[in-house]
Amino acid sequence: MRFEILKQNKKSWDLVAHHFNGKDALPSYGPFTQTEEELRLFEVISNKRVLDIGCGSGHSLRYMAEKGADELWGVDLSETQIKMAKETLKDLETHLYCAPMEDDIGLPKLYFDFVYSIYAIGWTTDLSTTFKLIYSYLKPSGYFIFSWDHPLYAHMISQNGQIYLDGSYQDEGTTTYRNFKGEEAPLVIPKRKMSTYINELIKAGFTIDSVIESDVSSSFDSIKEEISDRYYSLYKARKFPTTMIIKAKKM
Ligand SMILES: C[S@@+](CC[C@H](N)C(=O)[O-])C[C@H]1O[C@@H](n2cnc3c(N)ncnc32)[C@H](O)[C@@H]1O
Repeated sequence: MRFEILKQNKKSWDLVAHHFNGKDALPSYGPFTQTEEELRLFEVISNKRVLDIGCGSGHSLRYMAEKGADELWGVDLSETQIKMAKETLKDLETHLYCAPMEDDIGLPKLYFDFVYSIYAIGWTTDLSTTFKLIYSYLKPSGYFIFSWDHPLYAHMISQNGQIYLDGSYQDEGTTTYRNFKGEEAPLVIPKRKMSTYINELIKAGFTIDSVIESDVSSSFDSIKEEISDRYYSLYKARKFPTTMIIKAKKM
């Protein structure tokens, strides 16, 4: 099952990758969400070794480089994304790998100051193994920071401006999208509750430093919201967090 999902998702991500070139990348943590410039979760990036899980087109790693990171490492399931990341970072020394985050591909253990993931972690087919691997890559006192759709957000549907609960938050199965970004690219996304993310972090050995249920970035302060039924909208984001952001520490 896991193998089949990864095979399908890899094929589909290769097809849709161009829609995500530079999207969902630091300093952004997610749609309408406060940015790293507002939250300052990384504190000091200069001279740190960083690993990006689901690095996509490499724009978050570019941000890390601009902030003075010492070593830039990234992993992504999609060959197309890794190709785009190589292009984005072509003037820099990088270590980029095309692989599922849930596989141990021999990345160095006890090595990184920061492991982070922007809108990618929820794709893993095996959260427990993924968090244990991430824990093993970090130095003691290193941090894991990730953002992902707020687990309840996917169930909050707007219809003519009325927001209601769609489906069951209790069921932690998978959702299959037949089309993604208008492409015939079936993708399977695991559904998990907020507590599952937190409990799996604790089981992997992490100490939770902060849990953020996003608010709207101040850059939208002057924008008047209009009623919208889009999946991501300012209208919805002002009522409910689009994104969860978790910072966890390896003690
Ligand atoms: C929304 S994009 C992330 C954008 C990226 N974090 C950035 O900073 O630009 C999600 C990424 O997750 C990757 N992905 C999906 N499933 C994965 C898996 N099992 N292992 C590693 N990467 C995966 C996709 O190929 C895609 O590049």
